[in-house]
Amino acid sequence: MKTRINDINIAYDDQGEGLPIVFIHGFPLSRQLWKPQIRGLSDVAQVIVPDLRGHGESESTSGVYPMDLLASDVNALLNKLEVQAPIILCGLSMGGYIAFAFYRLYKERLAGLILAATRAGADSEEGKNMRDQTAAKAMEEGVGAVAQGMLPKLMSPVTYERKPELVSFTQDMMNSISVNGMVGDLLGMKERPDSSALLNEIQIPTLILHGVDDTLIPVAEAESMEAALPNGRLRVLPEAGHLLNLEQPILFNQEIGRFLTNF
Ligand code: MLT
Repeated sequence: MKTRINDINIAYDDQGEGLPIVFIHGFPLSRQLWKPQIRGLSDVAQVIVPDLRGHGESESTSGVYPMDLLASDVNALLNKLEVQAPIILCGLSMGGYIAFAFYRLYKERLAGLILAATRAGADSEEGKNMRDQTAAKAMEEGVGAVAQGMLPKLMSPVTYERKPELVSFTQDMMNSISVNGMVGDLLGMKERPDSSALLNEIQIPTLILHGVDDTLIPVAEAESMEAALPNGRLRVLPEAGHLLNLEQPILFNQEIGRFLTNF
């Protein structure tokens, strides 16, 4: 489905009834990431899954995509869909950075958070330089060149060996991002604030999910978030890397199913 919010056309899925759960994909992905969650959770919840601007089937804009802008797109979509009830917001990686921005801007809308394969901290100086270099590569060589470099780092060695269909699925998903979307995300992530100090203010139930084999964001980041969050609970999934919801869909959905009993 598509709708117009914040002057752009946004594509999204909206399936099921009950407690609304909004799933926010990471970089440089699309809402296709959440196919196993739409399939596995829309019988117990209202599952809302947007393509962020510049990704998948959503329209792109030029310039930086600050995390606040992407959070405001999610908020505008919820308004458009007339979602009144407090929501659970689940963000994976960059989606988690957007979840922190959403918390800062619209915390009254949130009943709970799910932080998957993400971190609270900001980019290091080295990380910021890398964002610029990657943005330059996307503009000079296209999004496929950046995707190609990322593909071997996204999943567990077990997934590469046993589930080649997931690897090609992920590659297709990454190739669907626009150059504007890729550059906008990179520059937006580069300027995102450090959310570490926010963690001990977040009183709502928060589920932290992380893949044991995540090399892009190590498990230690998830452990520090659990230590700082008053109501945080970490579950580390086996045989899973950065895209744990795709790699271990049954376990991921079971953890969410258990988390939903809090509400
Ligand atoms: C993501 O998966 O969203 C990104 O790898 C996050 C990042 O680059 O910091």
